[in-house]
Amino acid sequence: MTIMTCIFDAYGTLFDVAAAARLAAAEPGHEALAATWPKLAEDWRRKQLEYTWLRAVMGRHTDFWTVTQDGLDWALEAAGLSDPDLRERLLALYWELQAYPEVPAMLAALKAKGLATAILSNGSPDMLAGAVTSAGIGAFLDDTLSVESVGVFKPDARVYRLVTARFACTPESVLFVSSNGWDAAAASGFGFRTAWVNRAGAPMDRLPARPHHVLSDLTAIPDIARP
Ligand code: LAC
Repeated sequence: MTIMTCIFDAYGTLFDVAAAARLAAAEPGHEALAATWPKLAEDWRRKQLEYTWLRAVMGRHTDFWTVTQDGLDWALEAAGLSDPDLRERLLALYWELQAYPEVPAMLAALKAKGLATAILSNGSPDMLAGAVTSAGIGAFLDDTLSVESVGVFKPDARVYRLVTARFACTPESVLFVSSNGWDAAAASGFGFRTAWVNRAGAPMDRLPARPHHVLSDLTAIPDIARP
């Protein structure tokens, strides 16, 4: 079936989530991060995601900004860092994450081919608006959909249904793109065509469905969506 709509996960897919710790580590006064920022970034991300899944299972939803702070607090404690200014700086940087370098041209190519484009993210609407604005990609997106509309995190099917409701389309006409293997797998199970952007060369997740495409970055997305 022809792909009409291309949907992107936000954090880790369009926006580089490691950028906050990497940039903070290079700033004066944050020398303690110089050697440890990759582990801090990884712990922060892992705990942030674990808290989304656990809260979904527990039926205890809160917004993504809260779990982002909770994940950072766990990661800072694990690293033995208790600097309130560093915490504030890392959180501030999360509102202006860099987009991966290929993102603007890739989105422009999708629009030139006539596809609808949108973000579907765990992020709260204000966080996503901040990231979209600072990356300068708002002109290439038809919408930004947040799980806050349904009050549960990915991979609950209610989240993926936001796309078919917004664009009045079938799942088969959607290409869903995520750097999270579990998100791409769950989206395949929902019925989307999917692409997993596996920048780190991670193993395939052992889940009931698998992504249709595995890519090392986003460059090929326009060709996959509309050959
Ligand atoms: C998101 C997270 C899962 O943007 O990366 O939804």
